[in-house]
Amino acid sequence: SVERTLVLVKPDGVARGLTGTILARVEAKGYKLVQLKLVDATRELLERHYEEHIGKPFYEPLVEFMLSGPTAAAVFEGQRVIEGFRSLAGTTEPTLAAPGTIRGDFGRDWGLKVQQNLVHGSDSPESAAREIGIWFG
Ligand code: CMP
Repeated sequence: SVERTLVLVKPDGVARGLTGTILARVEAKGYKLVQLKLVDATRELLERHYEEHIGKPFYEPLVEFMLSGPTAAAVFEGQRVIEGFRSLAGTTEPTLAAPGTIRGDFGRDWGLKVQQNLVHGSDSPESAAREIGIWFG
């Protein structure tokens, strides 16, 4: 069925000037861009977005990283876009992500406590609804 997903180009992607390149790949796959903005995330917003990771060892480094610069937040729409975007993004660790994916082509390990992995995509229809509400509500 037609779904919507939240796509974030994280601060590493924006800082490296990859926002347009990354969003263009998602558009070129055929998904429809329906919302787009640059956001200076706050700690409060990130606490809601990453609520399931609170208490994990990478949580604080993750929040610091997400506070380090603007994030591009987008909503894409299409049949099975949630799975489709996650396939385009590649696996969480850029070192292991397949070439041809966003993380596999543009990411690597920078030796930090958090995976700087360029993008985020919602993992289920429920997460998508929740996350779109947080970033665009
Ligand atoms: P994302 O899937 O968007 O949301 C959780 C983020 O935490 C993930 O991207 C990575 O940036 C980071 N992350 C997940 N697992 C680890 C890990 N084991 N070590 C460091 N960072 C992680």
